[in-house]
Amino acid sequence: MKSLSEILALAPVVPVLIIEDLAQAVPLARALVAGGLYALEVTLRTPAALACIERIAGEVEGCEVGAGTVLNRHMLDAVEKAGARFAVSPGLIESHSFTDSEVPLLPGIATATELMAGLALGYDHFKLFPANIVGGTGALKAFASPFAQAKFCPTGGVTLANAPDYLAQPNVVCVGGSWVAPSDAVKDGDWRRIEDLAREASRLA
Ligand code: 3PG
Repeated sequence: MKSLSEILALAPVVPVLIIEDLAQAVPLARALVAGGLYALEVTLRTPAALACIERIAGEVEGCEVGAGTVLNRHMLDAVEKAGARFAVSPGLIESHSFTDSEVPLLPGIATATELMAGLALGYDHFKLFPANIVGGTGALKAFASPFAQAKFCPTGGVTLANAPDYLAQPNVVCVGGSWVAPSDAVKDGDWRRIEDLAREASRLA
């Protein structure tokens, strides 16, 4: 199993996916991989999400499928069973019951206090969330000096237009965003459009 830092280094953007229909999971993942995005976050926001993770893990070569919106230990165990290679949560649970999982977790933080709690638990990679609301690149610059060991995947309000500013920060390893898989394109099965969006995102540096 790859480490979280290896997974987050696979591409500049981690697509945040909301998949309603299990039949969309494999073609969607293949379009994103064809476009050059290799770490995919399937959020646990639909009844199909766990089955989508299982399907992508089993059928799509060349990507690491992760689970997003993991809010508790029960969900973490479920995504591990489904074959997720990483997990993402919007916030930090201040408990070691999350850190002993086989599946590496990217916890969300929004403040220095949460960051300190996460570092104390042993995490070194964090999702800055919701990035645009909690200070954006200004917050990342402010965290860089006191928290030199912390690396970030800012997510929430990140777009093709502002992603380069985030990616230019030395403490940013990648960004997360839903813009590469718009809901109308997923619904319509417009995999060509999604592949093009992924390719554009994969060329960000
Ligand atoms: C989310 O949890 O939905 C992610 O933060 C994605 O945010 P975005 O839709 O602003 O990219």
